Amino acid sequence: MPENTFALPSFAKINLLLRVSGKRADGFHELCTVFQTVSLRDYLTFGENKKIVLTCDDAKIPAGDENLIVKAAKLLQTEFGVTEGAKIHLEKKIPAPGGLGGGSSNAATALIGIVRLWELKIEFLDLCELGKSIGSDVPFFFYGGTAIGTGRGTEITQTEDFQAENILIVTPNVDVSTKDAFARMNAPDLTNKTSKSILKICRYEAESLYLRQSNLKNDFEATVFELYPETARVKKKLLDCGAEYALLSGSGASVFAIFDSDLKRREVFDELQNERAWRVFAVETISRQDYQNQLNFGEILHS
Ligand code: C5P
Repeated sequence: MPENTFALPSFAKINLLLRVSGKRADGFHELCTVFQTVSLRDYLTFGENKKIVLTCDDAKIPAGDENLIVKAAKLLQTEFGVTEGAKIHLEKKIPAPGGLGGGSSNAATALIGIVRLWELKIEFLDLCELGKSIGSDVPFFFYGGTAIGTGRGTEITQTEDFQAENILIVTPNVDVSTKDAFARMNAPDLTNKTSKSILKICRYEAESLYLRQSNLKNDFEATVFELYPETARVKKKLLDCGAEYALLSGSGASVFAIFDSDLKRREVFDELQNERAWRVFAVETISRQDYQNQLNFGEILHS
């Protein structure tokens, strides 16, 4: 790799818990979720360039201004009055869209990579604010591991790492629009009282995940399973094959399943190869420490 060119991973997330408590005045939804980073990852390579140029090995991914990586780069340019650009290459493995936070993760990795490339000095909380303006899931990717997200999903509280080694993620060939999925839920307008009590219940559920994985829940399931029956078929198939738990991730269409042994997971992985339209990934959880080491946060996340 030429000097001043470096690569960083961009990990996917799953949601171990996702409760939507109501619709806010700003049009977003108030939620409580438990994010978890997993080993499925894209790679971003950064190099010096006069302009901001993004390339991607997957022709289906738009590489123009609508890409969150380009948005992140332009945001930093504006914020810091930078005139140089960056050459960024995205090696895409995370299905998009898929409920796995791929775009948000790419944006967070892009912010971290460009801060390093341009040698910018930024406080951690300011980085989170910039992330928030790009997408609701972005701030989580400055933490990694297991964390509770509240508000729009942008207020992050770190929790003890949840660990699972035998996970399959299955993504059927269905594009769910997160915006539509939220709109179709018909969540009630938020009152402070209901929101606070739901938040309390959700925090309790999040913390008791360690005691009972059966607390895994996602409020999108009813809506998304009805709109896209193929997603319901994925969950049913995983449970029929012997998964201990299976749950839609985010607004889908990916479903993850936890198995009690590697052997069982391998058997199911092999069996699912018959489903030609499904993408199947064998993954494990990534702890916060491992996540932060691999992203080489260095000084920006410890200032
Ligand atoms: O923040 P992000 O761009 O990822 O959100 C995509 C869409 O999902 C938003 O435009 C909004 O319609 C919906 N959303 C929401 N409530 C949230 C997060 C997202 O209604 N907490």
